Amino acid sequence: MKGDVKDLKLAPVGKKRILWADRDMPVLALVRERFKREKPLKGLRMSACLHITAETANLGRTLVAGGADLVFCASNPLSTQDDVAASLVKDFSIPTYSIKGEDRKTYYAHIKRAIAHKPNVTMDDGADLVSEIHRNHPELAPKVIASMEETTTGVIRLRAMAADGALKFPVVAVNDATTKHLFDNRYGTGQSTVDGVIRATDLLVAGKRIVVCGYGWCGRGVASRFRGMGANVIVTEVDPLRALEAVMDGYLVMPIAEAAAVGDLFVTLTGDVNAIDVPHFRKMKDGAMVANSGHFNVELNLEGLKKISKRVTRNVRNFVDEYELSRSKRIYVLGEGRLINLAAAEGHPASVMDMSFATQALTTEWAVKNKGKLEPRVYPVDRKIEEWVSSLKLKAMGVKIDRLTAAQKKYLTSWETGT
Ligand SMILES: NC(=O)c1ccc[n+]([C@@H]2O[C@H](COP(=O)([O-])OP(=O)(O)OC[C@H]3O[C@@H](n4cnc5c(N)ncnc54)[C@H](O)[C@@H]3O)[C@@H](O)[C@H]2O)c1
Repeated sequence: MKGDVKDLKLAPVGKKRILWADRDMPVLALVRERFKREKPLKGLRMSACLHITAETANLGRTLVAGGADLVFCASNPLSTQDDVAASLVKDFSIPTYSIKGEDRKTYYAHIKRAIAHKPNVTMDDGADLVSEIHRNHPELAPKVIASMEETTTGVIRLRAMAADGALKFPVVAVNDATTKHLFDNRYGTGQSTVDGVIRATDLLVAGKRIVVCGYGWCGRGVASRFRGMGANVIVTEVDPLRALEAVMDGYLVMPIAEAAAVGDLFVTLTGDVNAIDVPHFRKMKDGAMVANSGHFNVELNLEGLKKISKRVTRNVRNFVDEYELSRSKRIYVLGEGRLINLAAAEGHPASVMDMSFATQALTTEWAVKNKGKLEPRVYPVDRKIEEWVSSLKLKAMGVKIDRLTAAQKKYLTSWETGT
């Protein structure tokens, strides 16, 4: 049994969670059935750096059913579900290197184990695996057919590499597929971020002033879910178009410097550095809570907060650290500033990951089919994959829709008919 997990004895609980999630992943199950028959990934060595959750385990089972020789490592030090990691190793024979709470050194040692697998295809959530290959193992790059990227921050990093001429193999921006970000980032991050905050704090949301930093796909989801529970949601933005959208969606919009003074809870989802900085921490009320659900913990300037604090008490409650600025001012940081939905809750519900991961598996097959034809740049997901995934998801949900009649098709593709 290969891998480095917290405790193999946790495997039975992990297996139950994996199978429970599988009930809600019918589209991925269909892909798995076909992969089992057709083996489109036969002979491929794959390394996947993802959040190690029950849903990811079902993606892993699908890739292995397709014939891939797969190794997993974590894409965040605090997002691993240890029981799932144990079951992946013990029950599904997928080498997994990932332990919840691992330090930075172990995190990178685990990525190195995935690199030592000498992958032909990689999968990333945040581009740490791809950038590690480029930085420290460039000799492996010519063997990589393609890489799939799961999240917004990863796509931003990869586009920057491509623009610099540094990218050495093709990547597909799975995050940018509508079957991914429209649902996963909005409804998945929306619900699970609220879940993470509540599990960490037992906060009564109703009546609270909640500041959502960033009104992108994730921010929209988080803002609407908190509003649905009775919070007064304030949005901060840097993009005028998105700020305008937030205003017309009915939120109060203001600069973080103003919001800092009034918020009870702050959640960052900007993909940006220091979205909440030292001057903002200084303005916060006693007892204010701060969380991040963006990919990296850089969104909160925690080093700065530490410097202005007289005392930091870890774990005043699970996933809550108290920063005492003065005797009358304490700020609570949730989940060490790492994505709160994965640190304190279970990440996105399986039903939404069904679409993201069916898109991932089919895009991997597409990339392998196109071996040798792709250049070292960032590709979008094939439109046909998105149509297939969304149609099947609707079918699985028992939702029927109308079809265009011949006359409608003609009308929608012609220009002659006017008033
Ligand atoms: N927690 C999760 O499970 C999860 C899931 C998906 C994506 N993510 C991550 O969440 C982050 C956001 O993703 P997204 O898809 O919503 O991205 P997005 O690009 O759609 O939205 C980000 C928004 O933040 C705004 N922004 C940037 N800097 C800002 C600042 N300093 N202050 C206020 N607003 C600012 C941008 O203008 C943009 O509107 C990324 O890091 C992404 O990787 C996390």
